[in-house]
Amino acid sequence: MVKDKEDPFNIVLIGFMATGKTTIAKELSTSLNIEFIDVDRLIEENTEMLIPEIFERYGETYFRQIEKETIERISQMENIIISCGGGVCLDPENISNIRKKGKVVLLEADPQTIINRTENDENRPLLKGKSTIESIKKIMDERKDSYHKAADIIIDTKEKSIESIGEEILKSLNL
Ligand code: S3P
Repeated sequence: MVKDKEDPFNIVLIGFMATGKTTIAKELSTSLNIEFIDVDRLIEENTEMLIPEIFERYGETYFRQIEKETIERISQMENIIISCGGGVCLDPENISNIRKKGKVVLLEADPQTIINRTENDENRPLLKGKSTIESIKKIMDERKDSYHKAADIIIDTKEKSIESIGEEILKSLNL
């Protein structure tokens, strides 16, 4: 059971690219036996395009617009786990939407871990040609305040297993 019936809520995972949001969302979804929605996959399904293709053909502004509409829509749902793309919290209206019914969990990882996880990854247009500690750190620093503003709980994922991160989140949420 994820929530008491009187007061249903969503668990919303946020954080920088490759901090494990989708993996942890799946873990929580399995342990709590509730549905999980990955915002980027939903966007891909709805547009019938992959994220890099949307960026390439229509640009980041267009992607952010679809992302915002998607967030607005799924924020109205209840009792689900939502895994957000790393840029969702850059828009204050998105933050306000995800917080309406969501307990927001920020996952953090250090720049080297992000680099290790995204090496040879073609699916993240914003990291293309930026796989140095300095460039990752720069984007992270620019985003830090937005992430922290949105979060109810902050989880450092360094050297922790998927299971232990899942348990830590459930414990923090008293579930
Ligand atoms: C983005 C993160 C990506 C995806 C898009 C933009 C970002 O999702 O939404 O490439 O701005 O941080 P992940 O965080 O799942 O990589």
